[in-house]
Amino acid sequence: EPGHPVSPLIVLVGPMGVGKSTVGHLLAERLGVAYRDTDDDIVAAEGRTIADIFVDEGEPAFRAIEKRAVRTALTEHDGVLALGGGAILDPDTRELLTGQRVVYLSMQVEEAVRRTGLGVARPLLAVNPRKQWRELMEARRHLYEEAATAVVPTDGRTPEEVTEAALDAL
Ligand code: S3P
Repeated sequence: EPGHPVSPLIVLVGPMGVGKSTVGHLLAERLGVAYRDTDDDIVAAEGRTIADIFVDEGEPAFRAIEKRAVRTALTEHDGVLALGGGAILDPDTRELLTGQRVVYLSMQVEEAVRRTGLGVARPLLAVNPRKQWRELMEARRHLYEEAATAVVPTDGRTPEEVTEAALDAL
């Protein structure tokens, strides 16, 4: 509508599989702004998948690449910006998020297990997804919460419902 102020940057954080990309696209569409995702930026810049970067160079190298990608995206973008689930682990990234509008899409461990599955059918070879999820959530939950200006639980909600809740929370 005329005179409606341009939406400032909205940053989406939260664990992998929570729906940052799906909800981010819906949110951007509803607000009439562009969607951007630092994982996509990294894949485009590196010409290989995130999984390949992890395998080839290890997590610390990926985090260094990610941190630069987040800094660039934060300065260039003014729509909806989704960060990779682990971006919040970097102290410089957390500092950059201070003063930004940060929406944390949260989910409980059981929801995460339900959404991402229990892994391969050979339990002795597979990691324990529930234990992995519990540890990951315990390590990161407070970082997401501290960075967030709004928390939107996604448990048992469709992407459309989460998008509505996020719009209400803005
Ligand atoms: C990661 C989340 C992924 C991706 C990488 C590591 C994490 O992003 O950056 O696999 O540490 O949680 P999404 O949250 O977009 O899946």
